[in-house]
Amino acid sequence: MEIYKFAYQIIKEAGRHIRETIDEELEIETKSNPNDLVTNMDKETEERLFNNIKATYPEHFILGEEGHGKDIENTKGVLWIMDPIDGTLNFVHQKENFAISIGIYIDGKKYAGFVYDVMNDKMYHALVGKGAWQNDKQLKQIENTELKSSLISTNPLWLTKEKLSKIYMPIIDEARSTRAYGSAALDFVHVARGITSAYLTMRLHPWDFAGGLIIAEEVGAVVTNLLGQSLNILEANSIVVGNKQIHDELLTQYFLPHKALLEEIHTERFKKNG
Ligand code: IPD
Ligand code: CA
Ligand code: CA
Ligand code: CA
Repeated sequence: MEIYKFAYQIIKEAGRHIRETIDEELEIETKSNPNDLVTNMDKETEERLFNNIKATYPEHFILGEEGHGKDIENTKGVLWIMDPIDGTLNFVHQKENFAISIGIYIDGKKYAGFVYDVMNDKMYHALVGKGAWQNDKQLKQIENTELKSSLISTNPLWLTKEKLSKIYMPIIDEARSTRAYGSAALDFVHVARGITSAYLTMRLHPWDFAGGLIIAEEVGAVVTNLLGQSLNILEANSIVVGNKQIHDELLTQYFLPHKALLEEIHTERFKKNG
């Protein structure tokens, strides 16, 4: 419980700092391609959280998108998996719709998840076995829905990939409608709040899903990769998260009939990550 409260406080404080400096000019750099941006605020926020954690818990391990813990190979001890700003493109273009995301794992077991919607000052948090909250309001267990009467979310980029589009198109077609929010962590939270029924994506890194996964599972969501396998918290993977019924429908009707093709796509995409 101590770690939980501590995490809550340092995430709130990091978010407050972002809000207070939101109008300052950003230093923007590109990473893997011209659309993969990182700002001084992504880096400073990771640094701030890292320093806070290490000052109180020097023995804890920290894996962050912007460079910390890239040598971590196992889940022993207390492991913080953090994305200092999830939704950097929203942060740069919109100055809203981004989140700080942290998942805490103890000896490989899920312990707590945090997704802080910074500009709306909404902290989504969950303690395994105890439930999930939006600030101090407990989130209800989510309800089952079927695809044809559901809102789902995904990144439209995946529809442009030739092999994948064959699998994705019929899903988009059958759903009531599709949303694209631009922050994976908030996509998990939307499912946890029941305002969307599922979120699908072909590739997320551990820091994108470590926090949201715990929040969503705490209210009854099912989270696997597109092949129905459980996620390894240290590896990139595809993701389907949804209420139990829609998750089952997506897997059995849309993904598993294309198992061989999906396995091929996974091998191509994840061969560098093992
Ligand atoms: C990205 C966002 C986006 C998802 C990308 C992620 P970042 O994280 O979560 O919604 O589609 O796959 O990389 O880079 O903004 O932290
Ligand atoms: Ca990024
Ligand atoms: Ca991210
Ligand atoms: Ca990020």
